Amino acid sequence: MSPSSPSSPSSKPLLEVRGLTKRYLGLTAVDSLSYQVEPGAIVGLIGPNGSGKSTSIDCISGFQPVDGGEWTLDGQPLAGMAPHRIARAGLTRTFQTVRAYDELSLLENLCVAAQENDGSGWLASLGRSRAVRDKEAAAAERARGLLQTVGLIGYADAPAAILSYGQRKLLAIAASMMARPRLVVLDEPVAGVNPTMVRHIETVIRQLNSEGVALLIVEHNVDFIMNLCQRVVVLEAGRKIADGPPGLIRTDPRVLAAYLGKKAAAAEEVRHD
Ligand SMILES: Nc1ncnc2c1ncn2[C@@H]1O[C@H](COP(=O)(O)OP(=O)(O)O)[C@@H](O)[C@H]1O
Ligand SMILES: [Mg+2]
Repeated sequence: MSPSSPSSPSSKPLLEVRGLTKRYLGLTAVDSLSYQVEPGAIVGLIGPNGSGKSTSIDCISGFQPVDGGEWTLDGQPLAGMAPHRIARAGLTRTFQTVRAYDELSLLENLCVAAQENDGSGWLASLGRSRAVRDKEAAAAERARGLLQTVGLIGYADAPAAILSYGQRKLLAIAASMMARPRLVVLDEPVAGVNPTMVRHIETVIRQLNSEGVALLIVEHNVDFIMNLCQRVVVLEAGRKIADGPPGLIRTDPRVLAAYLGKKAAAAEEVRHD
């Protein structure tokens, strides 16, 4: 339980990461990384392949143990906490590889997500008390609202198996919202998705953000990030090499050398394939 505090000044960061470090054997995948996400902001996290983006978000969401550093959400320290406790504290995430229970309906998928974040387990709650059933009814109502927001309400009772890849990404975004988080971390929300769906996902993200949730978005699609984010953090080899508004990031020489240089090299490789 966090103590109730007087209204905090708006300059106080929502997420504050300080000195985050993660090693895999001899490799330092994330190296003393520090950054902030302000309340209600959309922040992008970009960098070449292997620069530590996924590892860093796995760490702050509790899915990887860390070797150093600390991070707080609205002042509450989160280091060492399990993912469902971090979710309850207000930080949830999606995964690059979309996860859904194919045989369950979209509504059921969202209710399972709510229970997972709750730490109580969906199956364990079956047949339990009236209070549990009330909680499930509230979750179902929230789920319907979120399916409306992401444009999947028409499939609420259909099995997730019928969804396209892009629709699965939308379902995952809706699932991440079930716990009423303050901050959602999206891992590659538009990777492998067609351009029409990319625009739809962008609209959904803006809508959720306008309702008050802050977002930290890891993406390979640099244009998507530059359009959507107020601030962009750039990683290279586990270290932060730039942090600022898109206009400055686009022209930052270190970013051009590290990120766009490698992209150009990759394009060159493709041409020679
Ligand atoms: N489970 C793991 N075991 C060992 N090395 C890993 C593991 N996960 C990632 N790495 C390494 O850590 C570095 C950062 O990887 P990752 O965080 O996946 O980068 P990104 O998401 O930016 O592509 C890479 O060199 C990668 O090979
Ligand atoms: Mg990654």
